[in-house]
Amino acid sequence: MHSPQGASGSNPAYGASYPDKSYPTSKRPRRWWPWIVGAIVAIVIILAAVLGGVLGSRAANDDDNDNKSNAAADRGSNSGVASAATRTQGSGAFAVVPTATDQFGNPMYPSSTGSAQIAEPTISTSNSSLACTADDTSSISLDSPKTTHPLLIATENRWSCLPSLIEADSYMSYWNDTVFQNASRFYDTDTPAYIPDGGLGGSGVLDIAREVQLRIKHWAYAYKLSGDVRWVNRTWEELQVAAGNTSTSFGNAGDNWNSQHFLDVAEFTEAFALAYDWMYDAWTAEQRTAIAWSIITLGLQHGLDAINNDSAWWRQVQGNWNCVCNKGLMMGALAIVNEDPTGTIARQIIDLTVPNAVEYCSFATAANDGTWTETPNYWYFGTYSHVEMAASLLTATGSTQNLLSVHEDGTKYTALYHMHTTGMQGLFSYGDAGPNKYTATANGIMFYGQQYNLPVYTLFQRDRGDAPEPMSLLYYNPQVEGQFFQGLALDRHFSNSTDSWFAARSSWTDNDGTYIAMKSGYLQGHQTHGDLDAGTFVLDAMGERWAGELGSGDYLSQGYFDSEAQDSPRWLYYRKRTEGQNTILVNKQNQLVTGQPTTSFGSTNDEQDALVYTPSNSSTAYFTTDISEMNEATSSAKRAIRFLNGRRQVLLRDEITSTAAVQWRMHTNATVTLSDSDRTATLELNGKTLIATLRSPSGGTFGTADAVRDPSDPTTTQYNGNTVTMSEDQPNPGVTVLTIDVAEGTNVIEVLFNPQWAGWSANSFVSPPDVAIDDWSVTSHE
Ligand SMILES: *[C@@H]1O[C@H](CO)[C@@H](O)[C@H](O)[C@H]1NC(C)=O
Ligand SMILES: *[C@@H]1O[C@H](CO)[C@@H](O)[C@H](O)[C@H]1NC(C)=O
Ligand SMILES: *[C@@H]1O[C@H](CO)[C@@H](O)[C@H](O)[C@H]1NC(C)=O
Ligand SMILES: *[C@@H]1O[C@H](CO)[C@@H](O)[C@H](O)[C@H]1NC(C)=O
Ligand SMILES: *[C@@H]1O[C@H](CO)[C@@H](O)[C@H](O)[C@H]1NC(C)=O
Ligand SMILES: *[C@@H]1O[C@H](CO)[C@@H](O)[C@H](O)[C@H]1NC(C)=O
Ligand SMILES: *[C@@H]1O[C@H](CO)[C@@H](O)[C@H](O)[C@H]1NC(C)=O
Ligand SMILES: *[C@@H]1O[C@H](CO)[C@@H](O)[C@H](O)[C@H]1NC(C)=O
Ligand SMILES: *[C@@H]1O[C@H](CO)[C@@H](O)[C@H](O)[C@H]1NC(C)=O
Ligand SMILES: *[C@@H]1O[C@H](CO)[C@@H](O)[C@H](O)[C@H]1NC(C)=O
Repeated sequence: MHSPQGASGSNPAYGASYPDKSYPTSKRPRRWWPWIVGAIVAIVIILAAVLGGVLGSRAANDDDNDNKSNAAADRGSNSGVASAATRTQGSGAFAVVPTATDQFGNPMYPSSTGSAQIAEPTISTSNSSLACTADDTSSISLDSPKTTHPLLIATENRWSCLPSLIEADSYMSYWNDTVFQNASRFYDTDTPAYIPDGGLGGSGVLDIAREVQLRIKHWAYAYKLSGDVRWVNRTWEELQVAAGNTSTSFGNAGDNWNSQHFLDVAEFTEAFALAYDWMYDAWTAEQRTAIAWSIITLGLQHGLDAINNDSAWWRQVQGNWNCVCNKGLMMGALAIVNEDPTGTIARQIIDLTVPNAVEYCSFATAANDGTWTETPNYWYFGTYSHVEMAASLLTATGSTQNLLSVHEDGTKYTALYHMHTTGMQGLFSYGDAGPNKYTATANGIMFYGQQYNLPVYTLFQRDRGDAPEPMSLLYYNPQVEGQFFQGLALDRHFSNSTDSWFAARSSWTDNDGTYIAMKSGYLQGHQTHGDLDAGTFVLDAMGERWAGELGSGDYLSQGYFDSEAQDSPRWLYYRKRTEGQNTILVNKQNQLVTGQPTTSFGSTNDEQDALVYTPSNSSTAYFTTDISEMNEATSSAKRAIRFLNGRRQVLLRDEITSTAAVQWRMHTNATVTLSDSDRTATLELNGKTLIATLRSPSGGTFGTADAVRDPSDPTTTQYNGNTVTMSEDQPNPGVTVLTIDVAEGTNVIEVLFNPQWAGWSANSFVSPPDVAIDDWSVTSHE
């Protein structure tokens, strides 16, 4: 596949299987497939053909007599399954293609699979027109990189075969169109103004650097594909401004990229590196020299100085700072290594950054499960940079230089970490959320998918809202086939104690289903991006988030990033304190950072096996944690959460023995109404309702509170011999805290969450037995 005509008309299977009357006009798919509005007509036709298949097949399925023959026709008539591989190949035309993506970037799927071949992810190499010529890497190495441009991200092979891949694959075609549209939009807007956030030493100009990089990445792609020099001209204007060479003020001369906040230097350096390398043949000799000069004096030299002066603290960090800083410098150095006017600096930077990134950036994931040790949001910055380094090294030196193998299980499974932190209504967004993403997307998992031969990652990501950008076109392998959800486990326990957590869901494709996630790991080891949050959870159901996270505080707040020590000023802030989490608050105290929770998990191990998928009524998953060590006042504290009734109800239970009062807390955007002597809480959100019932203790009641610090909380801390006074907390408008208070002693707190599903009556809900956490099993609540 798939010339537009081939998809709609010339395939005999299709010709037979959909009646003319249900063949959609180009108007209907435009409405039904909003993500292609504005795309070229050919794409509309391809996708219209998909919809035609969907409708035709559904019509056929309504008629048992026709089902057999149509199913046979769908498989390519009498020749049987021989064509199944080619039918899904190279395009969404025979795959399940989303109708749109929602505000969280989640794909929304049609309500029927139609003619799609539902199969587990694979890569088929049978159609050579979906592959590019293999690169000859025999003469290149880290010591002796490729001598021709491009050296960054992808080879000339990939670029020269890209047009044919785009023509063959409807995803790539859609991405290419979107990239051109965005490139045009950026073309008409000025370089973002140089406005530091909290001063150059605060958050600096990171947003500006990333926005410039985003713009240049799009223009450089557009030039590569079209050969049109107006992209080059526009890029040159941007480079002049961002080098501080125009009348537009752009930072301090000589340090315009702001070495006080080194991420900024790194991201600007990458922007200039992509311009230099991808547009190399279009620049004049003078322009090349000018861009290389800027890369060296504003980027690489500052990196070298910082490293030599021992101020490059990020070189010892297993987190996103290491990935981003090494990446920017490495890409800047690789871009100019063959023309380096100094003769040495590019080589020096390569030799300093490659081993350092291998040793640190590659270890920012937990060893055995791929959990990003910062947060689900910082995962984006870390992995997008890790992949850009790996892809650039592969292109320039013929090898990813151990970046993918040195800590293989962590790196290999980090895409699963991302997939499972992806809830139905946004991420399980614990800890800090990080700055604006701009260039940081999840598209790097398509590169991991290719390198680790795990096409599930590629298939997952290609349907998501952040997929249409230049790197996708360079990482994606159109030879993937099947559906990401087919055979994909609904649940997963990420058991590394650094951040032990789990996620469970009712479906990968129905965003109106249920998703629960809970974490209970160590409170240190997160590069000061975590919260005091053992036992915190989120709950999505019916297209709403009922229990949610508050996210970052203000990064410029006093002492916000000082440390993860118990007395750190960070823990003065509501959003970071234990009271700002969806867990129990003992004696109004923060959890102990030295506590070591333990976790366990059980599941019926369901794997999704259809697009329209409903778990069986006995399908369940649960997670239990012992958080006794998190508070001095608890001799024992256990917490457990599970699905009931085919994953349509949720039960949360705490068993606590304490010498102080305990408050159970859950943050919600819903409007809360209490009834039944305050033992029922009715949560209403966007016209939907969830009813929480307090099952234990028998004398207990729900309460509500504002999401603000308790008046008795300290506003200062003795830290490193100084008294540090906190800055203002951020307000949490619209958030209500649902509470349950119990006195000291031994208490069981059990809450049943019943989303009010359309069409359900009171007796559709189960009322589970009372089971102690130690006795929980997959069948304990039947
Ligand atoms: C291979 O893919 C191309 C491009 O999608 C398509 O035109 C061609 O029909 C495919 N070949 C086979 C044998 O399926
Ligand atoms: C129609 O055919 C499909 C594929 O052969 C089969 O899975 C399905 O059960 C059939 N449906 C009916 C209603 O017979
Ligand atoms: C990429 O998109 C642009 C803009 O829509 C279009 O002109 C160009 O033909 C596309 N490239 C290919 C190979 O289809
Ligand atoms: C590109 O354009 C699409 C459609 O207008 C938009 O949704 C998306 O956010 C843009 N991407 C970027 C990176 O700006
Ligand atoms: C690009 O810039 C050059 C030099 O300023 C100019 O001669 C040329 O016309 C420009 N091309 C386009 C397409 O704008
Ligand atoms: C900016 O100006 C400096 C100083 O004149 C020059 O060396 C450098 O090449 C210029 N950079 C760009 C991108 O034009
Ligand atoms: C780092 O050291 C170099 C060379 O000794 C010096 O020129 C430079 O100013 C120093 N940079 C900083 C940020 O201290
Ligand atoms: C958890 O991850 C850390 C960090 O990668 C690692 O040091 C540790 O060995 C891992 N624990 C297990 C049990 O694999
Ligand atoms: C409230 O809604 C906002 C915006 O969607 C979301 O970011 C936040 O996590 C929600 N808060 C809670 C407590 O659910
Ligand atoms: C599964 O549970 C639902 C909701 O309680 C009920 O309507 C349905 O009949 C049950 N299905 C089976 C097979 O028991």
